[in-house]
Amino acid sequence: MAEEAVLGFLQTKEQISDSHEFATSIGVGHTELENVIKSLKGFEIVDAQEITRESWVLTEEGKTYMKNGSPEALFFGAIPPEGISRNNLKEKLGSEVFDIGSKAAAKNKWIAFEKDLVKRKVESVQDEVQNLLGRINTGEVPGDQAINDLKRRKLIVKQTWKGYSLKKGPKYVSKRKKAATDLTREHIVSGDWKNLEFKEYNLNAEAPPIQAGYMHSLLEVREEIQNIFLQMGFEEMPTNNFVESSFWNFDALFQPQQHPARDSHDTFFLETPGSTKDLPEDYLARVKLVHESGGYGSKGYGYDWKREEAEKNLLRTHTTAVSTRMLHALAQQDTFTPKRYYSIDRVFRNEAVDRTHLAEFHQIEGLICDRGLTLGDLIGVLEDFFSRLGMSKLRFKPAYNPYTEPSMEIFSYHDGLEKWVEIGNSGMFRPEMLLPMGLPEDVNVIAWGLSLERPTMILFGISNIRDLFGPKVDFNLIKNNPICRLGL
Ligand code: PHE
Repeated sequence: MAEEAVLGFLQTKEQISDSHEFATSIGVGHTELENVIKSLKGFEIVDAQEITRESWVLTEEGKTYMKNGSPEALFFGAIPPEGISRNNLKEKLGSEVFDIGSKAAAKNKWIAFEKDLVKRKVESVQDEVQNLLGRINTGEVPGDQAINDLKRRKLIVKQTWKGYSLKKGPKYVSKRKKAATDLTREHIVSGDWKNLEFKEYNLNAEAPPIQAGYMHSLLEVREEIQNIFLQMGFEEMPTNNFVESSFWNFDALFQPQQHPARDSHDTFFLETPGSTKDLPEDYLARVKLVHESGGYGSKGYGYDWKREEAEKNLLRTHTTAVSTRMLHALAQQDTFTPKRYYSIDRVFRNEAVDRTHLAEFHQIEGLICDRGLTLGDLIGVLEDFFSRLGMSKLRFKPAYNPYTEPSMEIFSYHDGLEKWVEIGNSGMFRPEMLLPMGLPEDVNVIAWGLSLERPTMILFGISNIRDLFGPKVDFNLIKNNPICRLGL
């Protein structure tokens, strides 16, 4: 009905200048008319221009004054010719009308106070306020002075309308045929398809967002990094054991039993089961020996190595525990085969939680085990790996790990932050770690580790780790994060 009214009107008139007025004149709500306008505009049947219009509308108080008269007029009207006492008048009018009315009437010089008496100063008055409010209510716009006065008294407020002005569009028709959207069997059988007008495809319409599963940002980056490892010929290590014994997490890595990382301040130890009995005995004996008195050209640490310490169960503090198991298994084979291994999985550290630390994170770890590897090989493979991540400017700093020698911290120049940031740790596994396993003497292992969270936060511009991981993660962040393309 609104559509017919619009099209009918434009048949004889040049334009509809204001959709709001038009809606009122045909007795429909503006929202309904707006929907019709949008549809007609979409088919170019009408040409619609957005317009904004400002108007003044009465507040609730303004409406009461319009109906009953302004308080000052009421005040004046309630004073008999001989005058009246304040108290009586207040009782007659109520305190609100009395208070507002007395001030405004006094200001208009309509009344005078004589001691306790209120008297008229003029014969009669015109209720200009009531009159103005009535005119504004019918759409009239009085002068600035009047507007300002009423606005100050909070009797009117400005309202902004959004509306349209309409003209015929290039495809104007006085009556729109309803376009068919589907060609059905019935249309074909009856043959009425010949006379139908079909709705055109709107190829510009936006498709609704797909409600599918979304990958968490960390998993997205993990997949990318996983692909890099696979491209470089690495095999994945089985990291599906969060619980590890101290033996594989520390001792086998030539980490002495007094090392501060083995304290419960740094490591989560398990209560039940608190210890592991199942350890490879012959290997364990060689590990004990290398800690106590060395061998393979090493002096060892010279302390009394305790089996109970090695048996303690913990949540693994690094995936290097798994690398160690893998290397030990490799050493048990009859003939040595070079290997490239990687893993990306969770590790746990008993740390104070803050913006950049949680008590658990994902470690990315890579290692190459082959004959005659050197530090140059390590630097080369790190440059290859990190350039595939989009970090081609690297620097290395000598560092210390109990299980690697030499060890290097890896820094990358961050263009956004304009500084060098530490991105990982690396080194060549010590002979004290590799030789007790039974690996041939000329076999070296180069390895490196980094967190998955750090590069993910940098890539997605997240500054608080709790926005990335844990119960506070906003699901929309995961839904709306752009596709991760490392190295582009
Ligand atoms: N395990 C080390 C860490 O927790 C990472 C690392 C792996 C360092 C391999 C050197 C070699 O940071």
